[in-house]
Amino acid sequence: MSEGRIDIVREPGHPGVARWHAVTLPGLVAGVAGLRPVVPFECGPPPPAGTLELSLHVEPPWRRRGIGSRLLAAAGAHAAGRRLVAEVAAGSAGESFGVRHGFRRTGSWGHDLLTYCDVHHAWLGELVDVEHQGYRLRHWTGDPCGATSVEQLLRRPSRPGDAVLSAAEADGDLVAYVLARSDGARPRRARQYGPAVHVGHRGRRLGLWVNAALLKRIRETHPDVEELETRIAHDDPAQLALRRHLGFRPLGRSIRYEITLP
Ligand SMILES: CC(C)(COP(=O)(O)OP(=O)(O)OC[C@H]1O[C@@H](n2cnc3c(N)ncnc32)[C@H](O)[C@@H]1OP(=O)(O)O)[C@@H](O)C(=O)NCCC(=O)NCCS
Repeated sequence: MSEGRIDIVREPGHPGVARWHAVTLPGLVAGVAGLRPVVPFECGPPPPAGTLELSLHVEPPWRRRGIGSRLLAAAGAHAAGRRLVAEVAAGSAGESFGVRHGFRRTGSWGHDLLTYCDVHHAWLGELVDVEHQGYRLRHWTGDPCGATSVEQLLRRPSRPGDAVLSAAEADGDLVAYVLARSDGARPRRARQYGPAVHVGHRGRRLGLWVNAALLKRIRETHPDVEELETRIAHDDPAQLALRRHLGFRPLGRSIRYEITLP
């Protein structure tokens, strides 16, 4: 790859999302950085308000030339004083890069992937159609930005957006949910958060029900999505069994790194 001038250019993005491209002189995009608010619907303690998720990718032929560092500097200047979180594959260049730039390790996950072409759609439909007496399914589609709880999302009208939510209610109360949202860097992949089932309603296969409903719903609202990635912070045999039952396969481990910018 010939050395030449590379500009870091701010790209127009969705509201609340910032993006930068590293552009080479003939106009090729050698790397991309993005910042967006952290999805607050994961199980576990919520991140402090204002935390941003960093995504950073440099094309392999352009690596180790300082482009990743320049993209990070552009994103950092935009987000002064904020906390950034980044997820990198264990043992990867991203891990060395994060350590080099002062990020500290705050957790790790196991990742699973479900590919839609492996799913038997009639079987999925049967799972969704199973009656759960006293419970009813609800769905919501839209942009989750600004919402801090699933209840808040369900009060909003559905509209086009990159998030899909499937939930179960009993007597008007939310008892289980699972949410998926497009993966900013890979449009054909969505990221799933949950399912989560309230303690008093466990053992009734509601997690499987809402998850199957979500998979079916995404097919209808976002037919371009071909695969769904999800992660789990610690070994949870019930979640793992549910995911294997639906056809999720292990994908690898990732490390979460964080930095609070000066
Ligand atoms: C991580 C990534 C963005 C780095 O981009 P890059 O343009 O190669 O990074 P830089 O050239 O600015 O590297 C800065 C420093 O990071 C460290 N680093 C980067 N890649 C490394 C590697 N493969 N092995 C060891 N250290 C590495 C080095 O300290 C490097 O400084 P040096 O080259 O002077 O030794 C790139 O490898 C990538 O896109 N990886 C896949 C996606 C990913 O992991 N993203 C990270 C999300 S934070």
